[in-house]
Amino acid sequence: MKILLTRRLHDFAVKELKKRYQVEIHTGKIPISKDSLISKIKDKDGLICYPYDRIDSDVINAGTRLKAISTFSVGYNHIDVNTALKKGITVSYTPEVLTKATADLTVALVLALFRRVCEGDRLIRKNEWRTIFGPYEFLGTDLSGKTLGIFGMGRIGKAVAKRALGFEMKLLYHNRKRLSPQEEKRLNAKYVSLDELFRRSDVVSIHAPYTPKTHEIVNLKRLKSMKKTSFLVNTARGKIINEKDLVAALKKKIIAGAALDVFQNEPIGISNHLTGLRNVLITPHIGSATVETRREMAEITVKNLILSLAGKKPIYQVKVESGRLGRF
Ligand code: DGY
Repeated sequence: MKILLTRRLHDFAVKELKKRYQVEIHTGKIPISKDSLISKIKDKDGLICYPYDRIDSDVINAGTRLKAISTFSVGYNHIDVNTALKKGITVSYTPEVLTKATADLTVALVLALFRRVCEGDRLIRKNEWRTIFGPYEFLGTDLSGKTLGIFGMGRIGKAVAKRALGFEMKLLYHNRKRLSPQEEKRLNAKYVSLDELFRRSDVVSIHAPYTPKTHEIVNLKRLKSMKKTSFLVNTARGKIINEKDLVAALKKKIIAGAALDVFQNEPIGISNHLTGLRNVLITPHIGSATVETRREMAEITVKNLILSLAGKKPIYQVKVESGRLGRF
């Protein structure tokens, strides 16, 4: 069988794949162009892809021999799952292993926002540190006693909640499905509507999947409903937020600040208006970027593909579930 990787993967993973298949690895510009993807997929039985590849119906239909798509990510909104499933192609992904890493980054962003860590770093590098230890200088905010609103209480949302409890934060959450009373008690989290979540939280953290329903669900109206002192954190998907609206809200100080690991069009550079704002903290989509997590993701990506191509159930299979399919 022949497989295509849209970019290189860990050496151990490629070695495993080469034991079984004829492996082609795209080595040119990333992401691979649509034309190139369409031409390379034609004779392939399996595909390993990444969150920035656009695996749309043209690509899937070009893969006339395609039996399995395995993505190196928990998100699968970049794959036209509907078309793939209709054609009997198994789609698999890598949840669970990246939960802790993404939750850790979220907490790091919340802490950095509340305590102005990056601002402080920038201040010193610009040689602007003048006074030492003043009563009012460079004050941040305590986490303890503040309300964290979690939008999307799946695996990552729950892991963030667990961590936030360690900082003595109060927890509100909104999710498609309410948690069981036992789980709400364990996490000490109160279920509220999305409107209430944005209105009452000191920091809202997004952990919902990107779907047609969550597309730009965070817009100017919602941002205006937040407290002026509140923050927004996004480690999920950029398109859940209307970025233009967020820039406007940050410029006009409608909210105090934001920390973003994901953006509408990645990668971003200094032409993106967010980079010119002082009250925003930005990181380059590193939610799952730890040595341990990426290695585990590679292991699962490979196992998923091998199982799928053998006609077996992969470890993590994307199932048909309305509202959670790719946005195509
Ligand atoms: C994912 O796996 O979907 C993440 O966004 C990658 O860090």
